[in-house]
Amino acid sequence: MPAQNEELSFSGSDPGAVKYGNFINYYSFHSSKNRTNNLDPKMFPTAVNDIIICLDVGCNTGELTKDMYLYLKNIYNDLSVKMLAIDIDPTLIERAKEGNDICDITFITCDIVSDAGRKLVQDYKETQKKQMFDVIFCFSITMWIHINNGDEKLIELLNFLKGNTRSLIIEPQPWKCYKNAQRRMKRSGKDFELFESLKIRDNVDKKIEEILNKNNHTKVYESPLSSWNRKILSYHLKMN
Ligand SMILES: C[S@@+](CC[C@H](N)C(=O)[O-])C[C@H]1O[C@@H](n2cnc3c(N)ncnc32)[C@H](O)[C@@H]1O
Repeated sequence: MPAQNEELSFSGSDPGAVKYGNFINYYSFHSSKNRTNNLDPKMFPTAVNDIIICLDVGCNTGELTKDMYLYLKNIYNDLSVKMLAIDIDPTLIERAKEGNDICDITFITCDIVSDAGRKLVQDYKETQKKQMFDVIFCFSITMWIHINNGDEKLIELLNFLKGNTRSLIIEPQPWKCYKNAQRRMKRSGKDFELFESLKIRDNVDKKIEEILNKNNHTKVYESPLSSWNRKILSYHLKMN
C-alpha cells in the first residue's frame, strides 16, 4: 500500500522529524558535491556493453542523483548512461522532476519495500534489455528501511539489490543515527514503533557488510570517512 500523506509529513513542528528520512531541503544541509567527492572510479565496474544502467534508491529531490550521473558520464567516457531514481515521497519526486534537465534520468515515486516497487525496478531493467543493473546506489537509506520495516525487510532488501546488480554502492547509517532519529521523533510526540524490537542494532553497519559480502558479491572499495562520519562501500559481483 502506498505511504499515506499523513505518514509522509513531518511530526510536530520539527521538519527533521520525518518517518522515511524524506527531509525537505535535504541538500541545503548535505551538499551533494561533498558526497561525490568521496566517490572513486575504482568503485565502478567495467562496462560490458555500450550502455550503463543505474538505480538510485531513495533519491529525495535528485541533486545527488544528477551529480552521480555526471560523474558516471565522465568515468565511462561518454557511454550512454541511464538512471532510474526512485523515492517513496511523491512531493520530493515532483521537485526532482521539475529540476531535471537530463533526459537519461527517470524519476518515479516508488516504495522499494513493496512488491509493486520491486516490479517497477525489474521492469525498468527489462525495458533497457539488461538482466542486471550495472550500478545500484543506496545512499543514506538503509536505516529508514530498517527502522520502519524491521530486520527481515532490511536483509530482504539487501539481497534483492544484490540479485539485481553488478555493483552496489552503499552508504549505510551507523546505529548512532538510529538513536538520533528516535530521539528526534520522540521529541515531536511520536516514535519509531519497531525501534526497540530491532535485533540488528549496535553493529548494524558490520551486519550490512556481512550480508553484502556473502555469496556472489565482494567488497572492492571502501571510502575514507566523510565530513559527516559515513563511508561509502562498493560491492561487485564476482566473476565466475
Ligand atoms: C536521507 S534521504 C537520502 C537521500 C539521498 N539518497 C542522499 O543520500 O542524498 C533518504 C531518502 O529515502 C527515501 N525513502 C525512505 N524509505 C523509502 C522506501 N521504502 N522506498 C523508497 N524511498 C524511500 C526518503 O523519502 C528520502 O528521500
